[in-house]
Amino acid sequence: MEFSAHFNTQWSNLLWRQPLRPLLGHYQGIDYRAHIALPDYGERLLQHYADILHGDLAAYSQRVDIPFLYQHYGVIIEFEKPALVTLHDTSMQLESGLRQIMQRLGPIIFKNAYLDTHLRSQGHRNRFPHLNFHIDRSINQPTQYSMYTRDPFDDEQRYPRTASTLFIPSLVGNLQAVREGQPGATSMKGGQNTYTLFTREDMSGLLGNIILQHAWSEPVGIGEVSMLDNRTTLHCSYYRDPSVPGYKIGVRYLA
Ligand SMILES: [Fe+2]
Repeated sequence: MEFSAHFNTQWSNLLWRQPLRPLLGHYQGIDYRAHIALPDYGERLLQHYADILHGDLAAYSQRVDIPFLYQHYGVIIEFEKPALVTLHDTSMQLESGLRQIMQRLGPIIFKNAYLDTHLRSQGHRNRFPHLNFHIDRSINQPTQYSMYTRDPFDDEQRYPRTASTLFIPSLVGNLQAVREGQPGATSMKGGQNTYTLFTREDMSGLLGNIILQHAWSEPVGIGEVSMLDNRTTLHCSYYRDPSVPGYKIGVRYLA
């Protein structure tokens, strides 16, 4: 549990206390820069969905029965040199520190990181549909976390990808569906497992504002990893060039 001795609740508290400031550190001799992707996220939602939320996110969350946990949303950790990270064990148990960070801050994105050889080819490869926000795991499955990987040693994945992975809290799926007047959005309590959203929106003002984007755009030979908790976050692919869906990324499910 060497990893969780460093990246854990205490670590996320450092980010939380100064959400606008990057956190500089080093792990196993490699410098990194970490920052919160979407600080003051609750405030952003209150503004963006003002006509639906009427200034009270907590009351809305309670009414639609979808928990909202994120004052700030998303963590990005960028290593200065390629970093070997052991993020889970062979029985697919995620490092406990990562679970702690996700509970507080939502999805985590690692850049310039790669997994150990014996874990690298675990899981399968997949490409999600464009702007179809969904969960990977049903509530009954023991593995509620999804991890996505770009393997820097793989012939295909060593190149930057033309498609992004997008993340939003489950509550935002509901809010946007209500905004778009989608049938059932207002009446369904607890949220849906899948929505197609934002298809008529100009995404440039939303990415990095309301929507967390993992663009997989690091240079050739750079590894990337991201992860989410399916109980609280929806994700999808976003084909930045609609004619090029991008290669399949690595997908694994963890407990
Ligand atoms: Fe998925």
